[in-house]
Amino acid sequence: MKKNKIVVANLKMNMDLAEVSNYLRVINKTINSKDVIICPTSIFIPYFLKHNYQVGIQNTYYNDFGAYTGEVSPLQAKSMGIDLTILGHSERRLHLNETNELINLKVIEALKHDLKVILCIGETAEEYAAKNTNDILKLQISKSLNNLDQEMLKKVIIAYEPIWAIGTNLTPTNSEIETTISSIKMMIKEQFNFDDMPVIYGGSVNDKNINELNTIKNIAGYLVGGASLSPDKFLKIIEVVVNQ
Ligand code: PGA
Repeated sequence: MKKNKIVVANLKMNMDLAEVSNYLRVINKTINSKDVIICPTSIFIPYFLKHNYQVGIQNTYYNDFGAYTGEVSPLQAKSMGIDLTILGHSERRLHLNETNELINLKVIEALKHDLKVILCIGETAEEYAAKNTNDILKLQISKSLNNLDQEMLKKVIIAYEPIWAIGTNLTPTNSEIETTISSIKMMIKEQFNFDDMPVIYGGSVNDKNINELNTIKNIAGYLVGGASLSPDKFLKIIEVVVNQ
């Protein structure tokens, strides 16, 4: 059976309370699909819950409770009604020094509490230029998903996000994305004997390029940063990808 594609909004650390209120006024009236997942800045999450879309969190920690100032646990997130967590985003790898080993601990903890996981992987501009993309992705996958069994893998979605495409208005060609998605699926099949891992694409997805990006055959959806901050642009993307 063919699965519906998903559209995920990564709002990052954007918008103040007044802007969030305006944003919610528009999207709560117009988004009517559980194939849309919105990931607000943590403190605003309660305002987004209990509407006709799913809600994700942009990061979670690897313990249930304790003296970890500033962190949020998957247990806490789940108890709030949050559906999913984004882990391994390149901005956290870069600015907060997250390693594949740390991400692996977070992935396991999130899955233990039945949160779905979007695991972000992707190569830098230099790695892309040196044609090292597949080696980098393979390493990120094998380390970040280490020790996951088949049941756990069922709750994982891979987001392929070339770092050079994030926030730059640059994207790989459709055929490059399609080939890389196939390679990612193959890596997961080879390493974990797991079939058909859903892979979404992120990096400068917007209302102008979504029609073309949406023709990629093996894609499971899109992770949208900048363009998700404008309800108009985000709704256009949803309209193209998701049947509401
Ligand atoms: P972008 O961000 O759409 O602004 O490129 C995507 C992401 O970082 O998830």
